[in-house]
Amino acid sequence: MRQSTQTDAEKRVLASQRIETLRKEIRRHDHLYYVKDRPEISDLAYDRLFRELVDLEAAYPDLITPDSPTQRVGAPPLDELAKVAHERPMLSLDSITDREEVLAFDKRVRRELGKELDRAMESETIHYTVEPKYDGLSVELVYESGRFVRGATRGDGHVGEDVTINLRTLRSLPLTLQADVAPPAHLVVRGEVYMRLDDFQALNRRITERGGDAFANPRNAAAGSLRQLDSRITAERPLALTCYDTMVRSGPVPPTHWDELDTLAAWGLPAPEQRRRCDSIDEVLAFHADIEAEREALPFEIDGVVVKVDRRDWQAALGEKSRSPRWAIAFKFSPRKEITRVQDIVVSVGRTGTLTPLALLKPVEVGGVTISRATLHNADEIARKDIRVGDTVKVERAGDVIPAIAERVPITGERRAEPFRMPDACPVCGAAVAREGAYYYCSGQAACPAQLKGALEHFASKQALNIDGLGKKTVAQLVEEGLVRELPDLYELTMDQLLALDGFADKSASLLLEAIRQSKQATLDRFLMGLGIRQVGRHIAKVLARRFGTLDAIVAADRDILESVHEIGPEIAASLESFFREERNRRVIHRLRKLGMSFEEPGGPKSGAARRMEGKTFVFTGGLTRLSRDEAKRLVEDSGGRVTSSVSKHTNFVVAGQDPGSKLDEARRLGVQILTEPEFHDLLEPS
Ligand code: IVH
Repeated sequence: MRQSTQTDAEKRVLASQRIETLRKEIRRHDHLYYVKDRPEISDLAYDRLFRELVDLEAAYPDLITPDSPTQRVGAPPLDELAKVAHERPMLSLDSITDREEVLAFDKRVRRELGKELDRAMESETIHYTVEPKYDGLSVELVYESGRFVRGATRGDGHVGEDVTINLRTLRSLPLTLQADVAPPAHLVVRGEVYMRLDDFQALNRRITERGGDAFANPRNAAAGSLRQLDSRITAERPLALTCYDTMVRSGPVPPTHWDELDTLAAWGLPAPEQRRRCDSIDEVLAFHADIEAEREALPFEIDGVVVKVDRRDWQAALGEKSRSPRWAIAFKFSPRKEITRVQDIVVSVGRTGTLTPLALLKPVEVGGVTISRATLHNADEIARKDIRVGDTVKVERAGDVIPAIAERVPITGERRAEPFRMPDACPVCGAAVAREGAYYYCSGQAACPAQLKGALEHFASKQALNIDGLGKKTVAQLVEEGLVRELPDLYELTMDQLLALDGFADKSASLLLEAIRQSKQATLDRFLMGLGIRQVGRHIAKVLARRFGTLDAIVAADRDILESVHEIGPEIAASLESFFREERNRRVIHRLRKLGMSFEEPGGPKSGAARRMEGKTFVFTGGLTRLSRDEAKRLVEDSGGRVTSSVSKHTNFVVAGQDPGSKLDEARRLGVQILTEPEFHDLLEPS
């Protein structure tokens, strides 16, 4: 609690202490979330901590340090990436694919070590640490006294590109090392930046929906995202990091690679989780087989394992060649790229009407799975890769999703078909196809069975209204029999109608009707998610529901109000606005309401009268006694208003606390209504 007698200097000290506490907490939660994958607090609680820090730093800008978690947002764009020389060459690895070659590696290690150490090594136990070979791009990270100061790409191994500001945006990269094990004064770490498969697919979806070019694989996506001139773009890209080597360090060195990985982890750096310390080369072979079997289930791409002699003194004895160390080897898996033929190109229609071209392939086995179709993303992508029916192509698999065509393989003398053209009419309903950039969509909306089916499946899905028994097959029946023409029709289905459908009996029909009826009680966030508004996924639906409490409040909110909500940017705001402006969507909502849906956040703090500050803006100046700035801000936001940092003629209220600053003068000059702290409470929490 602030004391009225506090001087500015005292306040500053308190602020500075609080800032340090917040930073520590946020770093700890970042580590738990991004490195350990084991969050301890909700996103909401995290946001609160983060916002409090942002606010405090805004009030005391000179207390901002480059390692503050708030400084991960990216910096202004550069003209080019600067070059940096590595302190030690960043070596590459020799790679092998066969069992015999691994045995030969072990033999060579023994022979060379024996020569170096002048003793027989044939029967000596050589421990190997084996870890996944991540399919990303390697980076060098430099820490001075535990602080991240520089990061670079590998480049030619001697000189790389300075990507420090881009790397700062990676949440899994500690800007300050944890000091349980005191970090050395100077430390150069080597690691791999990569992208998780689910993040990669979501990113490609986002890019192609806007008509951009999809990345061919997660490695290209990671490289393209890290080597950005505009670090704000990197900040939006879901990059991950793992660290596997210290290249240079001052002070004592762990005796083995295994211990080295443990040390990296103890400093808070992400290190490979799937790793094994093997007592023999047979165990190395077994681990390789285990990881290959697990490969499909891993959330990221690996292309093999790396086998490393564990003892660092032995590593040193073995030394290195010009390009690669003699003590390590990449033991690769069989490739997951195969060559096949495009038999046809068809177009599918998604839930939002997007037309996606798909290549039908001559079935081919890629890494143990038979592939017969590949996404071509959009028309530009097909043109860029110049893919036509009959072409020979290389297909690449990234996880268990629909694979992509990496590139065309030109065949000398081949006669090719005409370039592919997107259809003028929807292949499902025949409605006209509209176009926005590279992105084509069917204009038929709910009249298009493909869109209606997609919308219903989405509405009934687990994350949305969770209607048990309303799966793909039933949705198709309902649409094809003409029983459901738009969403609200679901709630008017009858027993007789269902019983007339293939596969329905008394029990299943009444269960489905009951599940549909139950869904009327769904929470607002589920309903919002179910509507299938572009850009409004589960998380954003929750943010909206929490902030606005009722559907009416969301519909009534204009873009400014929407954008004032944390995490709602211009694209989401525009998407919401255009969705609710559309007559057809309004009608659907109106009908659903008449059928008994309430669209309110149960127990929502912000329903009805409590939203009396809708659209009002507040500015705070001076210290408050009853609340922290952050709490005051939340109070305003919970009642529909928003808080800005400077006074303008659009400001509705200036709240003047103790020792108000120049904002108060500005408010007087502009004639903005001024509130004392008690008046502020009366206004927002009338008894
Ligand atoms: S050790 C001298 N360990 O593979 C040590 N490399 O083909 C050299 N890579 O350039 C690197 N995962 O970018 C090492 N667990 C791992 C790795 C790994 C991926 C990459 C690295 C290197 C390339 C060599």
